[in-house]
Amino acid sequence: MHVALTGATGFLGLRLLRRLLGTHRSVTVLAHAGSGDAVHRISRFFELTGAPEPFVAELPGRLRVVETELEQPGLGLSRRAFQELADGLGAIWHSAGSINLEGDLPELRRTNVEGTRHVLELAAAGRHRPVLHHVSTAFVAGSRREGVAYEDELDDANGFENTYERSKYEAEVLIHAWSRQHRRPVVVLRPSILVTDLPPHPELPSHPLQVIERILRDARRAAGPGSPASDGAGSDGLHGAGLPHGRPRVRIVGHPHGRLNLMQVEHAAEVMVRLAGRTPSGGVDTYHVVHDRDVPVPTIVTLLERLVGLSIDLVATKPDDLSALEALVDFYPGLTAYLAHCRRFDDTRVRALFGPSAASRPVDLDYLLCGLLPRNPVPAGPSPTPTAAFPSARYA
Ligand SMILES: NC(=O)c1ccc[n+]([C@@H]2O[C@H](COP(=O)([O-])OP(=O)(O)OC[C@H]3O[C@@H](n4cnc5c(N)ncnc54)[C@H](OP(=O)(O)O)[C@@H]3O)[C@@H](O)[C@H]2O)c1
Repeated sequence: MHVALTGATGFLGLRLLRRLLGTHRSVTVLAHAGSGDAVHRISRFFELTGAPEPFVAELPGRLRVVETELEQPGLGLSRRAFQELADGLGAIWHSAGSINLEGDLPELRRTNVEGTRHVLELAAAGRHRPVLHHVSTAFVAGSRREGVAYEDELDDANGFENTYERSKYEAEVLIHAWSRQHRRPVVVLRPSILVTDLPPHPELPSHPLQVIERILRDARRAAGPGSPASDGAGSDGLHGAGLPHGRPRVRIVGHPHGRLNLMQVEHAAEVMVRLAGRTPSGGVDTYHVVHDRDVPVPTIVTLLERLVGLSIDLVATKPDDLSALEALVDFYPGLTAYLAHCRRFDDTRVRALFGPSAASRPVDLDYLLCGLLPRNPVPAGPSPTPTAAFPSARYA
């Protein structure tokens, strides 16, 4: 059964590709047209993560790259090339997408919703009725901040924290309609926030926490030296604890007992590929690919404080007298909103199938720091420089 993968150069896609190459002699990479040499980018990932040289050397022969335009009907291919591609496939993994949380909705719809429509058309056209494995997100659950989000839920009753969530929700709605219309199975995989302890490297894709860290760092720099200074611990004694004097203090709406689900990207890819090995039910099978323990919001706060050199106070409501720095941070409400989340993602289906083997290693402060800052924390200033010698052997 030949398999195609979209988004193979992405943070998650690279790990999915690694898993797929473990069981498939070759994989068709549906690469983002005009976005650079996919084989080179993929090879660099494997080199940097300690893959054996012979494995890397064989990659050009094992990857068949087809340049595609997700937003275009027929993926931007000629009718004939599209049909030939479709007929050669037994399975399609759709991991490509825009994860720009606060992106322009029409743009996000073009990539995440129309892109999914065109991948569904590819699945529909295939002579061998390829099964689609669609990478969604647990955050299609939207703005409901408390309670439990279940795998079979899909509604927009609570609205969404950001345009990204909405676009991913709409893509799932499309999938359900397609599956009903064509009587075809689709496996929907909903990971939570994906993280790694692999240190940042300019040749590797960023992950969401890296993006958040960069935004806060940029906001801090843009606010300039006039930002209000803090002299230590926050009002609950936690947020400023251990921080040097003189760090700007920001008040961010958040819940002191909030929690977020962060999952190791490598483990998420493993679970997803195992799930894909199951015989699909015939309709849409949706799985939450999440960690068995949530990370407390105060841990995320401490992480950001250490990385960005801020003192963060979680407050219940948005203050009226925002400082320049707070106004900049508030410019990304769809991102900071997650600090107010207390909900849990139910993953009964995954656990029922895999039992304890679905459990992940802990994601704690040290783990997260490893994936964000390879050296000692820098209080402020330019973004962290990657280490000269990338510790690839750790990730072999
Ligand atoms: N990262 C997370 O924490 C997370 C959590 C839950 C769900 N997800 C979902 O997981 C999937 C993969 O995310 P990721 O973290 O791997 O994102 P990523 O690192 O930003 O990678 C996105 C991938 O999609 C490709 N892509 C983007 N726009 C495209 C377009 N217009 N046409 C064709 N390809 C395009 C990119 O190719 P280029 O690099 O060549 O542009 C890249 O390979 C997404 O569907 C996302 O919604 C991610």
